[in-house]
Amino acid sequence: MPWLMARVYDRVMAGSEQACLHDWRRSLLAGLRGRVLEIGAGTGRSIPCYPEAVEQLVLAEPDPHMRRRLQDRVGDRRDIRVIDAAAEQLGEPDASFDAVVSSLVLCSVATVPRALAEIHRVLRPGGELVFIEHVAAWDDPRRLRWQRRVEPIWKHVAGNCHLTRDTERAILDAGFELEHIERDSLRKAMALVRPSIRGRARKPVLEVD
Ligand SMILES: C[S@@+](CC[C@H](N)C(=O)[O-])C[C@H]1O[C@@H](n2cnc3c(N)ncnc32)[C@H](O)[C@@H]1O
Repeated sequence: MPWLMARVYDRVMAGSEQACLHDWRRSLLAGLRGRVLEIGAGTGRSIPCYPEAVEQLVLAEPDPHMRRRLQDRVGDRRDIRVIDAAAEQLGEPDASFDAVVSSLVLCSVATVPRALAEIHRVLRPGGELVFIEHVAAWDDPRRLRWQRRVEPIWKHVAGNCHLTRDTERAILDAGFELEHIERDSLRKAMALVRPSIRGRARKPVLEVD
């Protein structure tokens, strides 16, 4: 029920947003500049956290219900463009962005390697992927067991959100170099989505085949 998800999303996330997410967004996005793409932008909670040095912001959101709310939040700002695109097929030119932002999206994409390959393609060499993602509880076997049990149902009711993804590994496998990573609890979220990672990964300037 994507329409319901779009309707309740901000209310469901309000506690975490206040407890930590807003601060995480603000500090991770603070250093961005130039052309930036955000995948799965949702209702646009990151928009106020982008610094003025970002000259053009492209917000990709494939879900029409979320996109409507996103467009409302963007209003008539000329420096922001909203596009209908999934992370696996962004439809933007190669090497056209200085940074790509993913916040709580790689848990939901259909194919993580394809999404990361597409992000890699649209980033310029040296450009960065900025991420905040909830992940598998590798350091907490009991919680991991529960994540595995609940995931088959959870992904059907929560917009294909997976609880057990190893997103850090996937970022490395996609050819990025990790610059900074923090592991933390997504406070005020449901226990199974609390294990999270956030940080920055760079597309190497010189790719080795
Ligand atoms: C949990 S919400 C996160 C929204 C926002 N990024 C935030 O931080 O509040 C997940 C978002 O990912 C979007 N999404 C789902 N599958 C996607 C895909 N394959 N490509 C891009 N976005 C996707 C959903 O429509 C939804 O807006």
